Amino acid sequence: MFKHILITGGAGFVGSNLGLSLKRDLPGVKVTALDNLKRRGSELNLPRLKEGGVDFLHGDIRSPEDLDAAGNPDLILECSAEPSVLAGYGGSPAYLLNTNLLGTINCLELARMRGAAMIFLSTSRVYPMAPIRDLIFQETATRFELSGPQTLPGVSPAGIAETFPLDGARTLYGATKLASELLMAEYGEMYGLTAVVNRCGVLTGPWQMGKVDQGFMVLWVAKHIFGAKLAYLGYGGTGKQVRDILHVADLYELVRLQMDDLPRHQGQVYNVGGGPEVSVSLAELTALAQEATGQKVDIQAVPETRVGDIPWYLTDTAKVRAATGWAPRTSARDIVADIACWIEKNRESLRHIL
Ligand SMILES: NC(=O)c1ccc[n+]([C@@H]2O[C@H](COP(=O)([O-])OP(=O)(O)OC[C@H]3O[C@@H](n4cnc5c(N)ncnc54)[C@H](O)[C@@H]3O)[C@@H](O)[C@H]2O)c1
Repeated sequence: MFKHILITGGAGFVGSNLGLSLKRDLPGVKVTALDNLKRRGSELNLPRLKEGGVDFLHGDIRSPEDLDAAGNPDLILECSAEPSVLAGYGGSPAYLLNTNLLGTINCLELARMRGAAMIFLSTSRVYPMAPIRDLIFQETATRFELSGPQTLPGVSPAGIAETFPLDGARTLYGATKLASELLMAEYGEMYGLTAVVNRCGVLTGPWQMGKVDQGFMVLWVAKHIFGAKLAYLGYGGTGKQVRDILHVADLYELVRLQMDDLPRHQGQVYNVGGGPEVSVSLAELTALAQEATGQKVDIQAVPETRVGDIPWYLTDTAKVRAATGWAPRTSARDIVADIACWIEKNRESLRHIL
């Protein structure tokens, strides 16, 4: 079993939730959360980490010296990132590239020098945009759905599988993640790094500091609670774009299964998400948010589609299910209710962030 787990981005949404759950379930294991607190709201997680017995290390993965100060971890959960698909558009991509690519290389180097294993939080955004946009959809009353057989491999009503073609542009964010995955495979081959890649769809749950370009589930529920305006952006402005969603507690269950048998998952890349059963369109999310909060807000229709957007993404989880026996458990309705409950409980501190 692991003795010291380093979580990079450990004060972020995923990192803090994984760290606290690990410390709760494995109290004898040292858990260190390294974070530069770039994400607005991550600082709210510091008292939680302290209370839960997770050591906080203020550090930046762009700096090998900061990583060196983490000691001798035998497992690194790489959860730090600039996670926005819009990062770099209309400005410099420097922070994105230096964190998501060079920073990940620094983490790989730390793993190589310490002989540590790694679990990498990659993204469904490694799959290129144009082939997804070109899939054949039909419009139902509330969402886009795949219509009939598709011409590309790796796509079915079950979602996008690992065999979906990788040619084409995918956002700078997705490109940094794919490049990191490739390097991870090389470190596996050349240095014997034990690593597994989880290509996650939308992750969500309490303590996600949702904003317009990342964390839409929390943003949507928060705007219902705080009474601000929302907009259906793109695809005609009808809110029919679809994503699958995964509660962070369900992700934690998968990470634990992988940790228990990491050599078996060595070099594997898994698509991870809620799948068709746990998915929402924005229009459906509005109904769930109204149900959970008892509030209605104005929703503007903005027909023009934003750069970097796709109309539909569902995760085909067949490979990861077969390899681990894992399956997502939390329904979309329960996820929305959980988020609403968390915001209500922490109304005052969250009012200025969400
Ligand atoms: N949330 C999702 O829907 C989702 C989906 C797919 C993949 N992911 C991936 O999961 C991981 C965690 O995402 P999240 O949702 O928790 O995002 P988050 O923004 O909440 O957490 C990321 C953390 O990394 C920190 N960070 C940023 N730059 C850093 C740097 N240079 N050095 C050290 N720390 C730095 C931030 O301060 C933040 O606390 C990321 O790698 C993200 O790309 C997230």
